Amino acid sequence: MQGHPEVIDCLKELLRGELAARDQYFIHSRQYEDQGFMRLFARIAHEMEEETLHADVILRRILFLGGKPDMRAHPFEAGNTVEEMLRRDLEVEYAVRDNLRAAMHLCERHGDYQSRDLLLAQLKDTEEDHAYWLEKQLGLIEKIGLPNYLQAQIGMAA
Ligand SMILES: [Fe+2]
Ligand SMILES: [Fe+2]
Repeated sequence: MQGHPEVIDCLKELLRGELAARDQYFIHSRQYEDQGFMRLFARIAHEMEEETLHADVILRRILFLGGKPDMRAHPFEAGNTVEEMLRRDLEVEYAVRDNLRAAMHLCERHGDYQSRDLLLAQLKDTEEDHAYWLEKQLGLIEKIGLPNYLQAQIGMAA
């Protein structure tokens, strides 16, 4: 099936964004592991898998619509400290959220409701899971203080 060129271009940009989100979670999860924060490692390694699934859905949709996927992740900068990594991840999730909203609007304008619905599922993950979890972590650091938060992140996740 041939998709609208504007929709395909938009999906291609979203794919590069998902690949960047995946890679950022990839490096952050390994940095958490290296620093000994095993609970954060487990959670963020899982997030990396979810971003891979998001990328997969968009990649397949681009192919279905007759487009050629671009697998170059958008540039990103990894954080170093726990707080930096959490903040950078939240910034990425907010940017993805804004891009998904704009893309859904474009899909609707071109009557591509199937693409729109695929993106809606990702918007739900982005807002209600990824961003919300990160907001809670930063909220906890504010409430209980960084040393207490870090101490709680050392143990092995169940
Ligand atoms: Fe995503
Ligand atoms: Fe996400």
